[in-house]
This record gives sequence, structure tokens and C-alpha cells, in this order.
Amino acid sequence: MAIQGLENRSGLQGRRVLLIVSGGIAAYKTPELVRRLRERGCAVRCVLTRSGAQFVTPLALQAVSEDTLYQDLWNLTDESEMGHIQLSRQADVILVAPATANILAKMAHGLTDDLASTVLLATDKPVLAAPAMNVRMWEHPATRANVALLQSRGVRMIGPNEGAMACGEYGPGRMSEPLEIVAALEGFFAEGDAPRPLAGRHAVVTSGPTHEPIDPVRYIANRSSGKQGHAIATALARLGARVTLVSGPVQIADPVGVSVVRVETAVQMLAAVQAALPADIFVAAAAVADWRVDNAAGQKLKKGGSGSPALALAENPDILATVSGMGQGRPALVVGFAAETNDVAAYARAKLARKGCDWIVANDVSPATGTFGGDRNSVHLIRRDGGEDIWADLPKSEVAARLATAIADRFETGKTE
Ligand code: CTP
Repeated sequence: MAIQGLENRSGLQGRRVLLIVSGGIAAYKTPELVRRLRERGCAVRCVLTRSGAQFVTPLALQAVSEDTLYQDLWNLTDESEMGHIQLSRQADVILVAPATANILAKMAHGLTDDLASTVLLATDKPVLAAPAMNVRMWEHPATRANVALLQSRGVRMIGPNEGAMACGEYGPGRMSEPLEIVAALEGFFAEGDAPRPLAGRHAVVTSGPTHEPIDPVRYIANRSSGKQGHAIATALARLGARVTLVSGPVQIADPVGVSVVRVETAVQMLAAVQAALPADIFVAAAAVADWRVDNAAGQKLKKGGSGSPALALAENPDILATVSGMGQGRPALVVGFAAETNDVAAYARAKLARKGCDWIVANDVSPATGTFGGDRNSVHLIRRDGGEDIWADLPKSEVAARLATAIADRFETGKTE
């Protein structure tokens, strides 16, 4: 079934995936997922839960995987031919897609009442999960706690995406698209071959804009896309760091293998960063609003009456300066960002001194560079000790990879700034 050439370009050639399909509406996308994996040279064997079978037929999965489909823990034939230990043993990775709130809860708490959950408890193989559920279930403290627990044990979450849901609501909870899941698996296998110099380190990264409410429906924001900050979180995780990404509202997918905390305002971002500490590394890539509306209205402002409303602004806490100024518990390396249009290095060096950070990544955001919202960036990396690198006109992913490597070098040499 492999399409000519595709398997050679993908790191999935020859990999064995055990796909566990649990009972969400997104299960209807799994035959497509299996096809995409198989055309990249991957062997896919499926386990279907009883509720998963309400949304996708066993026959469909069996046909596209061209392998036996496993459903029942107590089926003597299956159990003798292929027990739950064997299923795990013969896979390189276990992928749970869709991963419902229920199966995530069972994984977090070690419940084993069917074949899928038994395999998941019995396995010593890496596990990736693509959650799919109603937005309220995803945001419920029980699910948040289960996901955090699973991530702390090394389970990687793929998505979920934000969007319109089958239940008529809107928000995070949609399963990642099949090709996004394929890309996450490719990234996972690529990492396995790469060195992991930041293993054992914790990095906290801020990303995206903040939204400062004017009233319940309006807010002040900026054009930050979050692409650079998210790419840095991905690059640090690739080098083995445990990464907590504190993100303002963005339209891009969560990086794989990273724990994401979503916030709206600068005040919430500071609280989330403080809750995520201690860390070895802090990277402040967010475009934090300098001010918030001090007199934000509790109800929607209306036209008419006594003319236009006057907005009173109050200065937001400076997250970078706050973390830089921590005495005990300050991360060993604090990296800030600076957006400049001219005299980039000189302004950035002054900002580094003012904020008290160790390094500063100065973006050239003059309009000709197209940095804001674009996919490329030109930066100066300026160190407190005077060292400076210039990385011109690179994809944001490459800037992120170089910064992560510089951070790993800094920890390897144990050099203090
Ligand atoms: N930052 C922060 N909290 C704030 C404001 C900024 O953590 N309330 C961080 C940003 O994440 C970034 C750096 O500080 O790492 C940018 O500092 P800032 O003073 O906002 O610089 P610019 O955006 O370049 O703006 P300006 O030149 O106007 O000072």
C-alpha cells in the first residue's frame, strides 16, 4: 500500500505503531490516519475499544491496516495468539487516537477493564495520545490533572486543535488531523535518533500575545502569532528538556511533547509562569501587553450616552524583569526578547541590562523583514558577557533550533554569564 517514494522520505519507514482507537466521534478519521501511516511504510496494528466501535467499524480498520483487529481482552483465540503483552512487545510506539477523557483518566489512574487499558498499563513503550473531547471535558480540572500527570510520566499529547465541535461548541478539543498526527510521529522518531543534552532540565517558555479586556467582548492585543515562541518550546523539548509553554491566545497547534498552559492576560501569564517554576531555563518570547485596561467594564460598553468611553491604562507586571530579579529560585538562564526596528544590538543591550536577564534575542521587526506573523526571522543573540551572534533571514524553526543548541552548550560548559 506504500505510495512510491513517500516511504523513503519519511522517518516512519519500517516503524510499528499500535493504534488504540477509543470512543470519540473523531474515531471516524482513524482509517484515514492508518492509510497515511501505511503509505509512509509504517506497520499499523489496531486495538478498538467497545465504544470506539460505535464510531468506526472493525471491518474498516482491519481492511486498511491489513492486519488482525484486536478488541476483546477475554477472547481466548486473540489472547492465545496475541496477548496484551505481545501486542505491546511487537510495537515501537503506542498511539491512542482519539484519546477520550475516559481513556486518559484510565491511563492516569492505572485502570484495566478492557484490552486497550490493559495494554496501556502493561506497556513499557513510548505512548502518544491525540485527545478528542468536548471543550468543557478538556478544560475540566479532572482532565487537566490527568493530562499533566500523564505528561509528567512521559506520555506525549498531540493537540487537541481548536475549532467547531460535533457537539455544537467551539474551543480546544478537536482531534488533530491525520497528517498532523503523522507529523508528530515523524518528529517523535526523529528525536529518538537525536542527542538529548537538556535531559533532566526544566524550561519555561512564554509565547504569543496577551489579550487585555476592555469589556467582556473587546480587548487590546498585538500581532504576535506565537510561531517563534512555540518553535523554541519544540526545539528545547527535542533536546530533551521538560518544557512548560505558557501561551497567550494563538491560532497555531500546541507543540508535541510540551506541557501547555493557556492564558489570556499578562497578569495570568505571570501567575502561570510563577506556578510553573522552578526551572533551569526561562525564555520570555511572548509579546506581553505593556498595559491593561484599569477600568475594564463588567458589561459590554454601549454607544450613545456621554460620548466615547475613556480607557484608563495601568502598567502590567513585567514578567521577564520579575523572573530575572528573583533571588533564590531564579532560573540559571533567563532569556528575553526585544523587538527593534533600528540600532538593534545597541537597544537590545540596554534592554538586557534594564531587565536583568542573561541573554536577549533581538528581533529586527522593521516592516521590510516581515517578522511579525511571518515564518522567517532575523535575530541578534546578545549575551551579558558581551558575546553576540547574528542569525539573518532564517526560518523561525531554525532560529529556535540554534537558540536551543546555544542553551544546551551553555549548560554543558556550565558557564555562568
Ligand atoms: N516582557 C515581559 N512582560 C512584560 C513586557 C515584556 O515579560 N510586561 C518581556 C517580553 O516577553 C520580551 C521582553 O520583555 O522578552 C520585551 O521587553 P519590552 O520592554 O516589551 O520590549 P519591546 O517589546 O522590544 O518594547 P520597547 O522597545 O517598547 O521597550
